[in-house]
Amino acid sequence: MKKVSLSVILFSSLFAMSSLISCGGGSHEDQKTEKVKEVVEEKIEEVVEEENESSLDLSAGEAVYKTTCLACHQATGLGLPNFYPPLAKSDYLMADKVRAIKQVKNGSEGEIVVNGEKYNGVMPPQTLDNQQIADVLTYVMNSWGNNGGQVTKEEVDAALAE
Ligand code: HEC
Repeated sequence: MKKVSLSVILFSSLFAMSSLISCGGGSHEDQKTEKVKEVVEEKIEEVVEEENESSLDLSAGEAVYKTTCLACHQATGLGLPNFYPPLAKSDYLMADKVRAIKQVKNGSEGEIVVNGEKYNGVMPPQTLDNQQIADVLTYVMNSWGNNGGQVTKEEVDAALAE
């Protein structure tokens, strides 16, 4: 990630310099310099935001996953066809964070459709505290190609208080 951001910043500065050169001096120069500064600052902000996204710490959630969910949903997050639905690229999971929080807390049963396949099993309620639910959902929503961002303890508190 460091490499990518460096190259973006480098690119931005190159862009800035070339804009300055093409300006040709004169009274527009100050204005141009301002504009270029703005563009560079925006780019740097974007990069910093991206870095924050990708620097989610998944280790706590991974530990919970391994001891609590892996037996059914598998290390690959792919589940087991007909028995355990996939979490990897699951349209069902990614569609509704609040529902996912409640499901982990209270379990789930009855027919559901995940990525076009029907499942009708029983997921028992999980004995996890709200921080662990936040961690494990952050892990599953940001692993195996999922890109769902962070689930905070506050979001879990709120979802379970409903
Ligand atoms: C004993 C097996 C078992 C365990 C352990 C288990 N699940 Fe499940 N899970 C299931 C089954 C079965 C379903 C489908 C339930 C249904 O039909 O309503 C399911 C459904 C789900 C769903 C919604 C469907 C989907 O694939 O998107 C999510 C999200 C989920 N589980 C997450 C977890 C997480 C996170 C853990 C660990 C904290 C966990 N599960 C532990 C069996 C399990």
